[in-house]
Amino acid sequence: MSIWGVIGGTGLTELEGVELLGEDWPETPFGKPSAPLVHGRIGAQDVVFLARHGKPHRIPPHRVNYRANLWALQAAGVEQVVAVNAVGGIHPELKAGTFCVPDQVIDYTWGRAPSFFEDDLEHVVHIDFSWPYDADLTQRLVRILREQGLAHMPKGVYAATQGPRLETAAEIIRLERDGADLVGMTGMPEAALARELDLPYACLALVVNPAAGKSSEVITMAAIEAVIERGMGQVKQVLASLISG
Ligand code: HPA
Repeated sequence: MSIWGVIGGTGLTELEGVELLGEDWPETPFGKPSAPLVHGRIGAQDVVFLARHGKPHRIPPHRVNYRANLWALQAAGVEQVVAVNAVGGIHPELKAGTFCVPDQVIDYTWGRAPSFFEDDLEHVVHIDFSWPYDADLTQRLVRILREQGLAHMPKGVYAATQGPRLETAAEIIRLERDGADLVGMTGMPEAALARELDLPYACLALVVNPAAGKSSEVITMAAIEAVIERGMGQVKQVLASLISG
């Protein structure tokens, strides 16, 4: 049976219903991952969990060592990865508390190490990234969201921004014009690095606030945290069903 990898974002620092088997914090050619890898089992399935922002949460999106994270998961035997991301909603259907399983991404990040293929190359590598997320994993996530009656959009365009600040209203208008439905700071280069390693990868995005300018209210961390608190309980249910199913 294949080993699952879960990358937890803001608000998700552990899984539920996991029989814990141990932790390790391996060195990779790119340094250490954000946090120790937590090895566990859900039913008969092995799972390796990694907290993207560290445990405790202390690494901002632009400082996450995405390469070490993906490398460490694959070195641990992980064969497929589900990434959980807190995002802002741009599309009118993506209200706070709803989910989206994106099928596309636009990368607005900069200055992050975007590739494993940089030094000592025998040839230059260009991965096919036309469809950045794994179709099978994506469909399974969508089916579980539907079965669990959770409000969601079954596809969408994820705009990956640099952060750590939130966007301006004008930036969100621009992203919307570009075709983006949701906005977050951690979707890239994570998805591309997974593809470089040939790891099937999908994103479960929880909308935690209306994107800048999409509501008359100021975006506060307190409001975001309240949505995260509720939503991450649902995320854990979705993941438990995905992994055990
Ligand atoms: N913008 C970018 N990243 C985010 C947001 C947002 O509004 N909410 C949560 N992560």
